[in-house]
Amino acid sequence: MADGKNAKHTLKMLLVGDSGVGKSCLLQRFSDGTFTHSFMPTIGIDFKVRTVPIEGKEIKLQLWDTAGQERFRTITAAYYRGGHGVVLVYDVTDQNSFSHIKIWMKGIEQHASQGVNKILVGNKADMDDKRGQELAEKYGIRFYETSAKTGQNVDDMFLLLAKEIKHRVIDPMGDEPEEPQATSSSPKVDLTSSKDSQPQASGGCCGK
Ligand code: GTP
Repeated sequence: MADGKNAKHTLKMLLVGDSGVGKSCLLQRFSDGTFTHSFMPTIGIDFKVRTVPIEGKEIKLQLWDTAGQERFRTITAAYYRGGHGVVLVYDVTDQNSFSHIKIWMKGIEQHASQGVNKILVGNKADMDDKRGQELAEKYGIRFYETSAKTGQNVDDMFLLLAKEIKHRVIDPMGDEPEEPQATSSSPKVDLTSSKDSQPQASGGCCGK
C-alpha cells in the first residue's frame, strides 16, 4: 500500500479557478473517493496528500486547494511559487468561470515557476457542455472534462499531470523505473489517501 513512507519524491500541485467550480470536490474525490453536495467556500488555502505509484516510483502528491474568491487572490499567488503543476478548473455550466481562465492563466505566468505543468479541467461534466478543448489547444495544454460527482476522469487527470511533472522534474533524461515490474503507461492507482506528512511550504493553512 502506498503510505508515503517509501516516497522519495514529492510533487506539489495547485488547483485554481473561480469559487464554486468544484476544486475542493475534485480533491475530495481524488483523495477520499467521496463527493459532497454542500458548498463551503475554501478560506485561504487547504491541502491534501496522496501517494501514488507512477512508472515504478512512489510519488507523494501534495495537492493545494486554493480559494477561488477574489479576496484570497494574494494568498493564492504566494502558493504558485515552488509548485510543479497547476490544475486550472472551470465549471462547464458557468460561462464566467470559463471566461476567467485567462485571468488565472495570467496569474500563473506572473507567479509560477517557468515550465510549470498545466492542465485545463472542465468540471461538472455530469451537467454537460463542450468548449474546453479549443481553449486548451490555444494554450498548448491538455484538457480533461471531469466530474467530482461521478468521479469521471478525476484520477486520470491528476495522475496524467503527475506523470508529466515526473518526466520534467524527476526523470528528465527518461530514467529507468525503480521497479520495472510496476511500469505501466496508465499508472495504477492506490486509493488510499496518505495524510502522514505535512507539506513543507510555509504559510497559513486554514482550510474549510
Ligand atoms: P472555492 O473553495 O470557493 O474556491 O470553491 P470550489 O471550487 O472549491 O468549489 P467546491 O468544490 O466547494 O464545489 C462547489 C459546489 O459545486 C458544491 O455544491 C459541489 O457539490 C458542486 N460540485 C463540485 N463538483 C461537482 C461536479 O462534478 N458535478 C456537480 N453536479 N456538482 C459539483
